[in-house]
Amino acid sequence: MKKVEDVVVDMYEQLPVPYGLVRFGVAPDHPEVKNCEATFEEVAASPRFNYVGNVRVGRDLELSEMKAHYDAILFSYGASEDRRLGIPGEDLPGVFSAREFVGWYNGLPEFQSLNPELQAGDQAVVVGQGNVALDVARILLTSVDTLRKTDISSQALETLSQSRVRSVKIVGRRGPMQAAFTVKEARELMHIPDVAFEPIDQSMYPAEIKKLPRVQKRIAEVLVKGTANVPEEGSKSWALAFLKSPKSMKADSVTGRLASLTFTNQVFAPDTDAYSKSASVVPTEETTVYPASVAFRSVGYKSTALPGLSGLGVPFDNKLGIIPNDPFGRIITASSGPGDLAAGHVPGLYCAGWVKRGPTGVIASTMQDAFTSADVIAEDWNSGVPFLNSEQGENRSTGLGWEGLKAKVLGRGVRPVSWADWKAIDQAERAKGQEGGKEREKFTRIEDMMSVLDG
Ligand SMILES: Cc1cc2nc3c(=O)[nH]c(=O)nc-3n(C[C@H](O)[C@H](O)[C@H](O)COP(=O)(O)OP(=O)(O)OC[C@H]3O[C@@H](n4cnc5c(N)ncnc54)[C@H](O)[C@@H]3O)c2cc1C
Ligand SMILES: NC(=O)c1ccc[n+]([C@@H]2O[C@H](COP(=O)([O-])OP(=O)(O)OC[C@H]3O[C@@H](n4cnc5c(N)ncnc54)[C@H](OP(=O)(O)O)[C@@H]3O)[C@@H](O)[C@H]2O)c1
Repeated sequence: MKKVEDVVVDMYEQLPVPYGLVRFGVAPDHPEVKNCEATFEEVAASPRFNYVGNVRVGRDLELSEMKAHYDAILFSYGASEDRRLGIPGEDLPGVFSAREFVGWYNGLPEFQSLNPELQAGDQAVVVGQGNVALDVARILLTSVDTLRKTDISSQALETLSQSRVRSVKIVGRRGPMQAAFTVKEARELMHIPDVAFEPIDQSMYPAEIKKLPRVQKRIAEVLVKGTANVPEEGSKSWALAFLKSPKSMKADSVTGRLASLTFTNQVFAPDTDAYSKSASVVPTEETTVYPASVAFRSVGYKSTALPGLSGLGVPFDNKLGIIPNDPFGRIITASSGPGDLAAGHVPGLYCAGWVKRGPTGVIASTMQDAFTSADVIAEDWNSGVPFLNSEQGENRSTGLGWEGLKAKVLGRGVRPVSWADWKAIDQAERAKGQEGGKEREKFTRIEDMMSVLDG
């Protein structure tokens, strides 16, 4: 909107409420991270921006229907699935994906019936060592009195208050130098009151930690220092286990619920530098078994193709889980060869965020990357390259945008949510939160969000 003077942007969101993972991913005890919502507010205040909530593209509106009404479409629909391990027992009762669990405690309507059964036993295992794994561990270990002040869902708070989980083991398939989490998040776990940390095996580190690259050095220092909290009878603790690749999950013969996870022990490949971020590992014949009543698979999210994408000539790379694009966000066909970066660009189509780069990156890097995508749209527009529809003839754009589609959506019984509608939902959530002494109490059912608007 800044770079193309008269451009109008319609933003479609499948849920009535905005903010994606900022609302439904970012941990409730990290409210400061959600400050980026203010930037969003600024954008939404523009008369040239329309928020179209509660409309799922590919279900409530076909992409083919949208095409005639827009010059450009930018896909930034994130990653709505998770990677699987592909091992026996992965679907046993008691095994959850981190995505489901995170969505559940953050009030995402889709996962409100998850029932993670945290009363089944005292040991939890998290597979994967990214920041999401650390979020899951922190929520399991933090006292409910601390969480009560956050916008965590009431249902999650109730379940967590009855949790019997005392120990959380976070298991990685490579070593500590290759773990994907960041130092701030590791430090935070060390500072949870009364939660002990099982000392890390220091033989995994070089003799002189000081000589490691800065990022790895800081993480190593935090992990080696550990925490001052000493394990006591009944207290909670966490541990990191390295060089273990998930092999299978087994059920208790009586309850049929998860009882243990078996990992294949790994060693660094002979030709690899064990202290480099990209070190590779090889399996051994040995295994390790960890008993657990609950396990979380936290090995990354995954984007999928939106229905109707291929009809627009957009390929989807199922292996990488992204829409193929030049590094700037122009969507390209698979056949685009080297040379001009814009070669093979599908006119008028762009992408940003996790569906552009894969499911990694914090909000700051995702924003930077989105600015790049916006810049190329403006650049392409100003340089007069073809967009979605031609300016004349049968293929001419109506230029109507959402106005040209609204009647269709209403006719399908869908009630679109405007920015003013969202603000009403927001107000109602804040008011409900105030009663309970928290910033907001999220509605966890779509019907409840909508009832604020239409009674
Ligand atoms: C559990 C978790 C915690 C995180 N915590 C932090 C943190 O503390 N700090 C930090 O900096 N980063 C954090 N991140 C990373 C950050 O959330 C991401 O970088 C960022 O949200 C990615 O933005 P996105 O727009 O690509 O995807 P999303 O935020 O997922 O947004 C995609 C949006 O598209 C909508 N959508 C999907 N399909 C459709 C459709 N068919 N029609 C209409 N709308 C659709 C979705 O509902 C969603 O609102 C976290 C990520 C996760 C998973
Ligand atoms: N507080 C924050 O800032 C915050 C909070 C949450 C999320 N985020 C961001 O959101 C993004 C996504 O986080 P994420 O944790 O989902 O992903 P991630 O950072 O990519 O971590 C995924 C982890 O899963 C492991 N893994 C992948 N496949 C595996 C397999 N088959 N078996 C065993 N382990 C496997 C990876 O190990 P390998 O390295 O060996 O593949 C890695 O340890 C990241 O950029 C993260 O920083 C940020």
